[in-house]
Amino acid sequence: MKTIENIMVIGAGQMGAGIAQVCAQGGYTVYLHDKNDEARTKGINTIDKLLERSVQKQRISAQEKEDALKRLTLSNRLQDAEQADLIIEAVVENLQVKASIFHELDKIAPTHTLLASNTSSLPITELAAHTKRPDQVIGMHFMNPVPVMKLVEIIRGLQTSEETFQTIEQLARNLAKTPIAVNDFPGFVSNRILMPMINEAIYTLYEGIATVEDIDTSMKLGMNHPMGPLTLADFIGLDTCLYIMEVLHEGFADSKYRPCPLLRQYVKAGWLGKKSGKGFYNYS
Ligand code: CAA
Ligand code: NAD
Repeated sequence: MKTIENIMVIGAGQMGAGIAQVCAQGGYTVYLHDKNDEARTKGINTIDKLLERSVQKQRISAQEKEDALKRLTLSNRLQDAEQADLIIEAVVENLQVKASIFHELDKIAPTHTLLASNTSSLPITELAAHTKRPDQVIGMHFMNPVPVMKLVEIIRGLQTSEETFQTIEQLARNLAKTPIAVNDFPGFVSNRILMPMINEAIYTLYEGIATVEDIDTSMKLGMNHPMGPLTLADFIGLDTCLYIMEVLHEGFADSKYRPCPLLRQYVKAGWLGKKSGKGFYNYS
């Protein structure tokens, strides 16, 4: 198993910030990188706020909060990958963007560095093919919100080595998460099951079967889901939901995964859910 001390997280959005937080709380030194200045500031502010809440709730001490923040450094240079034993990429769910980042990181990072992606659905094997170290590339799929949700899907690409898998599985346990092992197929396990349900909820709205609120109430009170599917879609991000449905649709070539036209229309309008202030609900 490889020794991991320094972790770089690429992308300081809702997932990247959460991953950086749990890694820093787990005792790792973390570089949190985003190309966007505003995203970095928003990311670190969110982490600060959540850690403060944990102090107030007496889950951690004020000293532990301080120590976690000290282990976190914001980065605007991909070159900081030179310091990393592991890089966890959490940028937009787009194969071209992720592939180009993996290609760049492969040139910068030391030869021992592992490259992980938090992708929700994209092929790890293909990302690995954009590097000269496919045996050291792996999927490490956290759930949203990262500090709360226990699951991490660990996805082996075709060429991922057993050493890489074992190292990442142990890291997930060190972060107090529960890892599951998954093979590299579109949507893996979690989104192959979750996202068609969300897409079907959007079709239910599109076909005028019920209101947004009643669709959510159906699944909350009828199935005991903590959030209704439309609230959850807004929470995940409608752009991310659409990307995942497109990956399932293309990957399985099966019309049962056809993204709902209403989802496409909302994304085109810039209604991306909670993060943009409007989706199926208003957040302003
Ligand atoms: N970030 C960090 N912590 C958060 C949070 C966030 N965005 N939202 C809520 N929490 C914390 C709160 O601080 C609270 O903790 P304390 O009160 O103990 O401090 C705790 O979660 C519970 O929150 P609330 O009481 O405010 O609300 P809740 O009981 O409704 O729980 C929830 C919130 C945990 C998010 C819950 O609604 C839930 O489990 N929702 C479903 C989440 C889900 O399905 N996630 C998976 C999404 S799919 C995915 O991640 C994969 C993908 O690739 C798309
Ligand atoms: P987000 O839109 O909140 O954040 C993405 C961040 O990446 C933004 O801050 C953006 O500035 C940054 N970014 C984009 N291109 C970049 C680049 N070339 N270099 C550096 N930074 C760049 O998205 P998110 O919800 O955090 O999702 C990120 C990834 O995590 C996606 O692959 C998504 O599928 C996956 N994921 C999302 C969820 C969810 O519920 N939202 C859950 C699990 C996994």
